[in-house]
Amino acid sequence: MTGRNICVLGGGGFVGSHLVPLLAARGHCVRVPTRRRERCKHLWPLPGIEVLECDIHDPARLGEVLTGMDAVINLVGILHERKPGDFQRAHVELPAKLIEACAAKNVSRLLHMSALGAEAGSQSRYQQSKSAGEALFRDQPNATVFRPSVIFGPGDSFLSLFADLLRLAPVVPLADAGARFQPVFVGDVARAFADALARRDTLGQRYDLCGPGLYTLAELVQLTAANLELRRRILPLGKTASYWFARLMELKPGAKIMTRDNHYAMQTDNICASGQPGGHAQPFGAPTALESVIGYLTEAGPRRNYTGFRAHAGR
Ligand SMILES: NC(=O)c1ccc[n+]([C@@H]2O[C@H](COP(=O)([O-])OP(=O)(O)OC[C@H]3O[C@@H](n4cnc5c(N)ncnc54)[C@H](OP(=O)(O)O)[C@@H]3O)[C@@H](O)[C@H]2O)c1
Repeated sequence: MTGRNICVLGGGGFVGSHLVPLLAARGHCVRVPTRRRERCKHLWPLPGIEVLECDIHDPARLGEVLTGMDAVINLVGILHERKPGDFQRAHVELPAKLIEACAAKNVSRLLHMSALGAEAGSQSRYQQSKSAGEALFRDQPNATVFRPSVIFGPGDSFLSLFADLLRLAPVVPLADAGARFQPVFVGDVARAFADALARRDTLGQRYDLCGPGLYTLAELVQLTAANLELRRRILPLGKTASYWFARLMELKPGAKIMTRDNHYAMQTDNICASGQPGGHAQPFGAPTALESVIGYLTEAGPRRNYTGFRAHAGR
């Protein structure tokens, strides 16, 4: 699929900010609907990208933004609820409206972002709702679903958040320090989406996306500290202390660092089947090693500021 019209919901976020320019560079015309056009300033100057402010939860507005599109990519997701029902609205109700609108507007290709660990039986409501949203795409022969482990890269809110915390204090208490992840590079995730648009063998498929390395959370934080050349003491918290740490963090005003829902999600390893490097990502090429790109944490420049912008925006 070259030079087509593609709508990217959630295209102004972390993953979208890597994917949208890649799609434009491949000759596609990209439309990015957003709740706040100002937040997508970084996309404005790029040729072939249209950023428009609208409420995509309104079926009429959603239908309008999908008019004339050949494909739609859904990246909308939240890690924390501001009020009960937010997960359901973003992860389940919106995908249902999207599928309906695609049928009405003859949008023949759908790519949906789920998450590794999205399971109906999870204790985490993030993962439950992601699972319910993902299930809606099972009956869609023209859909492809992606399930990444935690995603790292310039602008992330995972390692960059730990980098910010490590800069602040010599001792860092760490909840769920033993939780295991297989982090995947944002560039690999963006490439998987962009490649899938052009490949018919991805129709009706679901792909887990993982990087080549498997780490505990403590190892990831230590790696971050080493990259920043900081000598820090990581204080692993036990399960009960982790729960209460998360509870305490929920009470903190402003952007959330951690919630009990995150704690519940981390009770299950976030790794690809049998811990295989790249999991099912191999159809999209060899995954990038964290160690080869982690230098982005020390880079100056606008991307480095994403974490601050996003925290400020409460995302
Ligand atoms: N980052 C990770 O480590 C990771 C791992 C696994 C899966 N995922 C999934 O990947 C997707 C993208 O993640 P990301 O890290 O790029 O997230 P992000 O930076 O927070 O961006 C999410 C985007 O979703 C949109 N959005 C959020 N809530 C919305 C709502 N209620 N209504 C409409 N739009 C809403 C936002 O658009 P506007 O603010 O512009 O309107 C934002 O641009 C999500 O579905 C996430 O669950 C992420």
